[in-house]
Amino acid sequence: MTEALSTDGLTVSYDTPQGLVPALRGVSFTLYRDEILGLVGESGSGKSTLAMAIMRLLDPDRTQVKGEVMVGSRPLYDLSKGDLRHLWWEEIAMVFQSSMNALNPVLSVGEHFTDTFLAHRPAMKIAEIRQKTISLLEQVQLSAQVIRSYPHELSGGMKQRVVIALALALDPKVLIMDEPTTALDVVVQHSILTEVAAIQRERHLAVLFISHDFSLVSGLAHRIAVMYAGELVEITEKSLATNSSNPHHPYTEGLIQATPQITGGRVRIQGIPGEPADMSHLAPGCAFWERCTKRLDKCKMLPVPEKHTHTFIRCHLMDLSSSQSHSQSKEELAHGQ
Ligand SMILES: Nc1ncnc2c1ncn2[C@@H]1O[C@H](COP(=O)(O)OP(=O)(O)OP(=O)(O)O)[C@@H](O)[C@H]1O
Ligand SMILES: [Mg+2]
Repeated sequence: MTEALSTDGLTVSYDTPQGLVPALRGVSFTLYRDEILGLVGESGSGKSTLAMAIMRLLDPDRTQVKGEVMVGSRPLYDLSKGDLRHLWWEEIAMVFQSSMNALNPVLSVGEHFTDTFLAHRPAMKIAEIRQKTISLLEQVQLSAQVIRSYPHELSGGMKQRVVIALALALDPKVLIMDEPTTALDVVVQHSILTEVAAIQRERHLAVLFISHDFSLVSGLAHRIAVMYAGELVEITEKSLATNSSNPHHPYTEGLIQATPQITGGRVRIQGIPGEPADMSHLAPGCAFWERCTKRLDKCKMLPVPEKHTHTFIRCHLMDLSSSQSHSQSKEELAHGQ
């Protein structure tokens, strides 16, 4: 498996009037070529912050970033501004949260593509740009006529398709998609996701697909990363995520149960009780302890063990490296309730 993108101990704090508030806390993961890694978590868990930190797009005057981001073999935070501009679009591209509203209203779709191509390849001929643009539009199921349209003439789904095609224009190897279909109706959402899956397979892309919707991500991704209070708590294979007998982090279990279930013709949704953690007052242990139905006495205060195999989990309950610790955990569980 070829590593396309990795982060090591990526940590971000925002400078606010109340002081530095953490938003991302020591996030380490690897995204491989030819895979879709889904990233899920509640609103405010740090998903967009992770995406922006990976792209090196956070304002350095208002944020403190620590840790490392590697795009292929290149350390992103060590690159010059010039090298970074080359890397954006050509190596790594991003579809931003609500980016369909970021299309320039006074530029036609074709002009958006022309600007993008010429900014990176100034010698490109207009005829070639036109041909490439049409081919990209066709890949996202848009007709060639759309090239002359202005953003206000397009539906939300069409705009989102334009934004995805633009992100693919310079043939990046890594694509980050931050809630790319959240504002769209379910039918359009489904057809765009089908196209994203086909494009990913054809181009052998590495895709980081961000969503707060666990069921949507589990239908699309090969692996699923789960984020809580700025930390990764689990990375699971999709097959394990959909197999209910597999033990997960209690937060992941909560997200799985929070997806709508249809039983006896009735839709049942079971939410996760409690409020997301207050990022400015985090306990030294697990940030989820207060809402966790399986918490132990040690969860609040003690550093949380991590278990790395081909997957990842960060939880006191999952500290099952030996049968002894397994039975100990069960005992503590009984006492902790
Ligand atoms: N520019 C900023 N200044 C200060 N705090 C910020 C800023 N941007 C984000 N935050 C805070 O950082 C935390 C993570 O926010 P982020 O937008 O990354 O979450 P998210 O998981 O993408 O949420 P959503 O699902 O709503 O998009 C939140 O507590 C948020 O309030
Ligand atoms: Mg977000």
